[in-house]
Amino acid sequence: MLTSHEIRQKFISFFESKGHTFVKGAPIVVKGDPTLMFTNAGMNQFKDFFLGNAVSPNKRVVNSQKCLRVSGKHNDLEEVGHDHYHHTMFEMLGNWSFGDFFKKEAIEWAWELLTEVYGLPANQLYVTVFEGDAPSNIAFDQEAFDYWSRFFPADRILKGNKKDNFWEMGDTGPCGPCTEIHFDMRSEADRAAVSGAELVNNDHPEVVEIWNLVFMEFNRLADGSLVKLPAKHVDTGMGFERLVRGIQGKTSNYDTDVFQFIIQETAALAGKKYGDDEKQDIAFRVIADHIRAVSMCIADGQLPANNGAGYVVRRILRRAVRYGYSYLGFTEPFLHQLLPGLSNYFGNGSV
Ligand code: SER
Repeated sequence: MLTSHEIRQKFISFFESKGHTFVKGAPIVVKGDPTLMFTNAGMNQFKDFFLGNAVSPNKRVVNSQKCLRVSGKHNDLEEVGHDHYHHTMFEMLGNWSFGDFFKKEAIEWAWELLTEVYGLPANQLYVTVFEGDAPSNIAFDQEAFDYWSRFFPADRILKGNKKDNFWEMGDTGPCGPCTEIHFDMRSEADRAAVSGAELVNNDHPEVVEIWNLVFMEFNRLADGSLVKLPAKHVDTGMGFERLVRGIQGKTSNYDTDVFQFIIQETAALAGKKYGDDEKQDIAFRVIADHIRAVSMCIADGQLPANNGAGYVVRRILRRAVRYGYSYLGFTEPFLHQLLPGLSNYFGNGSV
């Protein structure tokens, strides 16, 4: 079975073989952009390239970006730990075209990577394309539909609305129609009983979006209007933890090697077992998720505080402590004991 480090490296190597240059992820804490407190997508650090305010030295870029989605437009905090596939901090594997290739290559390479390099079963994949939006004067994305038609039968190419298939970084900024790839990870019997097409974008825990390919063409201005960007770009983002779960054949992101070592260390400290009790299990997952988020924020320069970005970090930290004390029987500080394992994971093959 591929380890999570190998899966990440295969993504990077694949896009390097397609002429992309590896660029390190940005710090998870954003200092220079008043519209964001934390990096919420791999494209944040490239915003000026999309807007035409700066020129990228490389037209094709690949990376893995640590993102945090607990404030602003993208906020998943309440789901975290209760379900098995949302996170506060997650890694986003991404590749970009800055005014270079567009829909054809983005779609062909996504297909090649998922089915040929990772060997995901093609008959468990679905894609969505933007249905268009008359008030914004944007048409159905026929081009994306046609490229996907080379790989998928029409009944596995679904139309999606503005909420799901038009990606925006925040209230303002670069944006555009997107096409998403969803992976149906249910058992064969479940797939035979109910078509995955009915479950895409319906909060089903085993039919989840894994990759979003955004075709950046517009800038959303503060008055809500859209203007065309000077050039067309591609911004893709794949949920690393979900991908690892799919490739490793697990039913939960937390059962992969990305999280299991933290859960097992927490279980040893608490003298309890993961899998014995649902309330305790939620606490294990909350802690496994939150310790990563808090540690990465602190490592990148944002200490817990009582306002702004620091308050977000403090809320995550408090949530982890509260679940540990309330459900796992901790009566003394324990989170710091998880740090050596975490540092070993992120220092050993992560980027
Ligand atoms: N920006 C898009 C997203 O965050 C694709 O990378 O989903």
